[in-house]
Amino acid sequence: MAGLGLSLLLKLFCSLLFLSTMAKPAFARLSRSRAYIEASCRTTRYPALCIKYLSSYANTTSIQSPEQLAHLALSVSIYRALYTRNYVLKVAKELEASKVRGYQVVKDCLAEINDSIEQLSQSIKELHHLGLEPVGDDFFWHINNVETWVSAALTDASTCLDEFPVGKMSKLKATIKGKVLNVAQATSNALALFHRYATKYRATRATKKP
Ligand SMILES: *[C@@H]1O[C@H](CO)[C@@H](O)[C@H](O)[C@H]1NC(C)=O
Ligand SMILES: *[C@@H]1O[C@H](CO)[C@@H](O)[C@H](O)[C@H]1NC(C)=O
Repeated sequence: MAGLGLSLLLKLFCSLLFLSTMAKPAFARLSRSRAYIEASCRTTRYPALCIKYLSSYANTTSIQSPEQLAHLALSVSIYRALYTRNYVLKVAKELEASKVRGYQVVKDCLAEINDSIEQLSQSIKELHHLGLEPVGDDFFWHINNVETWVSAALTDASTCLDEFPVGKMSKLKATIKGKVLNVAQATSNALALFHRYATKYRATRATKKP
């Protein structure tokens, strides 16, 4: 009984020791990720939003490279767009049922959000190719594709925003506009972070070329 107790204690002690040596680097890695995200986000147009959206992922994932950051930023952007679409879809159904004036604006906006989502998912596919591609001119082709898709997604979100009036509007429309604005800003940030990655990428490829 005493022997069992002792060996259990020993095991516990060992695992605690193990945990404490594990926890430190993990913690350091996570705070390094956060610092990296914050520094990178400061170069974007909407740094506060960038830090808010991206750093919540730094607790579970280690983010240390421009590529990881670009990937994360694009994922966040499409996630925001999907979330916004669900909301707008629900509102659009309600408006259609009650035949409210202004339904058309919401419906047009929904079509733009749909396009944005399609373009963002294309850009994520391209980014994935970029990671798999061997050295070659295809690199630049994929980089250009990502930039094209993300820019198009941003344009669509902005087109939706332009359909809403500038001044007073119903609370419902203001809410939709706010959510779409979030998508547009997250996408603008993702584009900026991807540009940073692409610039570094181009530089390293250029020096490796004979
Ligand atoms: C991430 O970890 C930090 C420190 O451990 C904590 O303060 C923060 O609330 C965590 N954030 C999330 C989103 O879990
Ligand atoms: C947008 O996509 C949703 C989900 O796929 C679909 O139900 C809806 O009809 C689409 N709306 C427009 C205007 O394209």
